[in-house]
Amino acid sequence: MPSPILDLNNVLASSLDRGGIDAARLTPGGDLHDRFAQAHGAVEARRTTGDLGFLDLPYARDTARRVAELAESFGQWFEDVVVLGIGGSGLGAVALREALLGPAWNERSDDDRGYFPRLHVLDNPDPRTVEGLLDRLDLRKALFVVISKSGSTAETMAQYLVARERVGLVVEPEKLRGHFLFITDPEKGALRRLAEAEDIPTLPVPANVGGRFSVLAPVGLLPAAVCGIDIEALLDGAAEMEAACRDAALATNPAGALATVLWAADTELGHPIHVLMAYADRLRAFTLWFQQLWAESLGKVKGEGHVGPTPLPAVGATDQHAQVQLFMEGPRDKIVVFLAVDPPAADVTIPDLHPSVEQLAYLGGHTLGELLDVERRATTEALRLGARPSVTLELGAADAHTLGALIMLFELATVYAGALYGVDPLDQPGVELGKRLTYGLMGRSGYDAPTFPEVDDRWRIGRVSG
Ligand code: PA5
Repeated sequence: MPSPILDLNNVLASSLDRGGIDAARLTPGGDLHDRFAQAHGAVEARRTTGDLGFLDLPYARDTARRVAELAESFGQWFEDVVVLGIGGSGLGAVALREALLGPAWNERSDDDRGYFPRLHVLDNPDPRTVEGLLDRLDLRKALFVVISKSGSTAETMAQYLVARERVGLVVEPEKLRGHFLFITDPEKGALRRLAEAEDIPTLPVPANVGGRFSVLAPVGLLPAAVCGIDIEALLDGAAEMEAACRDAALATNPAGALATVLWAADTELGHPIHVLMAYADRLRAFTLWFQQLWAESLGKVKGEGHVGPTPLPAVGATDQHAQVQLFMEGPRDKIVVFLAVDPPAADVTIPDLHPSVEQLAYLGGHTLGELLDVERRATTEALRLGARPSVTLELGAADAHTLGALIMLFELATVYAGALYGVDPLDQPGVELGKRLTYGLMGRSGYDAPTFPEVDDRWRIGRVSG
């Protein structure tokens, strides 16, 4: 069984004073066990029709080698790499950078980064953010990686146009194309056409891999490799998890067990809010990647109704001083998935400076990593004592191998959950209307601007009259 290890003890009825899942339901012959076996069968059927391209990514080693070669050549030329991509085309790169290089990668000195480039990700077209970054960088030494599966996302295309104009102001026309790399559909879309017309280098997002399932495609691998992350280890971990999850037995399929427990928590136990609480700053961005994956995949119309859990990111111990009060005493509508990480080898010892001050003395001689992990265990137990369910994913060292496994675990859990909820986790029809209205308002041909309802100024409260 590959790490991470999924510990379900604190969701079982035997651990909680009220609620919880009877363990027998998860064992062969139990209804949840059998329900998962059906969901597993539905997912395997979609695998055979070729819908689930993300399951093949850990084995696409030729692509990984091409990514590594390109990354090495770019890494030698550029000091800054800027990803332009939103949603599934941007969140994975940030999650990998922070988890494996630390949140302060871009602040480190060249020497400290081993002369690998800084990695920036622009997702939101907020003019202050975009301008702030473009102003700060030496654009003669910057590579822009434009990532869009569709090749037409307004936010990303707008940023590309801005970046291209800016780079064009400081480099000669014949060198311009060398500052861009496109990661897009292998055949379709405007970016693909532009790349062909201008001989801009490209990497593919396989046609059967959607944005939020694409972090192990060049979408996530190229930004990771350019900063020196071991992408082969990432893929090895993902492959191990993918292989482990071919088994329909819930007790040996961690993604299946996680999906089944979270689905039952929502649909049976009244816990539609799924908190992912990481006890490591490095995993903060990973919790945001999960939030998008879970929300966009599972929030769907079903028949006449609507389904979908609400994912809620959290980081321990910080959120013990922000959200945990709500988790402990607020509505019983949450289940927490803890991410537990081993302390680093170079842990920080807390010095024993005030042995006579009782509020400080007990800390001396312990380490910060020990304190953080104790806080996680204490919070888990406090929730359990309050009959608030949780599960824990134990990640060990949280290195590239484990992160690859964790990514595959959550992606698989998402498609299993889709089958359990009875929705298609691969589409996102709910975002289309907003996109069409944006196109209309921005004047794109073929799209109508909406006629907004008349605004009643009496309800624009706070407006200064006169
Ligand atoms: O997960 C998804 O499919 C979406 O979040 C997309 O990644 C996002 O909308 C960006 O799309 P694209 O890669 O086509 O620019």
